[in-house]
Amino acid sequence: MLSLSNKRILLGITGGIAAYKCAELTRLFTKAGADVRVVMTKASTEFVTPLTMQALSGNRVQLDLLDAEAEAGMGHIELARWADLILVAPTTADAMARLANGHANDLLTTLVLAAPATVALAPAMNQGMWADQSTQANLATLQQRGFHIFGPAAGEQACGDIGLGRMLEPLEIAKACAALFETGKLAGKHVVITGGPTREALDPVRFLTNHSSGKMAYALAQEAYSAGAKVTLISGPVNLPKPDGVIRIDVTTASEMLAASLQAVDDADIFIGVAAVADYRPATVETTKIKKKSDQLEILLIRNPDIISEVSKLPKRPLVVGFAAETENILENGTAKLEKKNLDLLFANNAVETFNNDNITVTAISKQGSQEFPTSNKNVAARRMLSLISDRLN
Ligand code: C5P
Repeated sequence: MLSLSNKRILLGITGGIAAYKCAELTRLFTKAGADVRVVMTKASTEFVTPLTMQALSGNRVQLDLLDAEAEAGMGHIELARWADLILVAPTTADAMARLANGHANDLLTTLVLAAPATVALAPAMNQGMWADQSTQANLATLQQRGFHIFGPAAGEQACGDIGLGRMLEPLEIAKACAALFETGKLAGKHVVITGGPTREALDPVRFLTNHSSGKMAYALAQEAYSAGAKVTLISGPVNLPKPDGVIRIDVTTASEMLAASLQAVDDADIFIGVAAVADYRPATVETTKIKKKSDQLEILLIRNPDIISEVSKLPKRPLVVGFAAETENILENGTAKLEKKNLDLLFANNAVETFNNDNITVTAISKQGSQEFPTSNKNVAARRMLSLISDRLN
């Protein structure tokens, strides 16, 4: 379950006897490297204690929508955006009905409504309740809206009945969650991604750079690997760990990034230029530290190569995807950039909001038109972007 490593899972527990299995489920998630936050309905606390779930998840359990203390920490909208996946386990018949009807009368249903993340449900109820037409109609509504439904399984029930309605075992649920990230959509493809800032030296101790954190590129690299791709991440200097399974090539300057990119794209299917490349570099790099002598200092800058344009000019070019961090007229400037750089797809976003932020609001732009994604964390956005990219490729 490598694909659960570093994933942010919001586990919602509703009031059914199977709630006791959430302790084991949480342990499996944390063992797989996931970060788990638990939200419980009032009824579920009759079956498993918040203290148990807090101890196992390592995070404070949230119970109420109107909890001033919790809201002061991570507010409910922030929590909704934090999640890469929301899993409601067990999902009672009543929770299914409330979710199918878009209720927001407690913290959990509110989070599901607000979250841009994937939502999965593990139903658990008496076989008669599961078979009932109302539950089956709610199930159909939820499936049609893109909710993933894990189970239920058949067998002996807590009430003594035998039939469909048992919650899946924790290991089966954890594997089903992992499979959501392992789409196989990019199986056999080579994806090359540039990320982070570049540094352009002025002298042995100083350089020009920008605020890029590299988070978007690293999220794309991780998600592309989960989707089955071979991933080469050409990274400027950032403070992020290497994503699992990804080949990372460290570079410092734009010229180094260009050389590494041209070498890596040779057999690439997709090139994604996320890096915030310095447009200019000092014309000369002093060999000794620049001394402060006069009141003014002039530094001559010269243009850096445009890496993504060089890649899109190649005779045997991969699908080329760019980013545009704009401060105004996002759609207009993004469209102009798509054409100027001869890109297949471009993701435009607000530079001020995005740099060093965990969340991002992007507009996908291609020759066919544009589409705005809801604000989400960068992992969720990366998955959406890659889904669009793989559709384009096919
Ligand atoms: O022109 P601008 O910097 O706004 O374009 C952004 C897009 O171009 C991004 O995809 C970025 O990675 C790429 N780029 C590049 N080389 C440059 C400048 C930008 O590949 N020198």
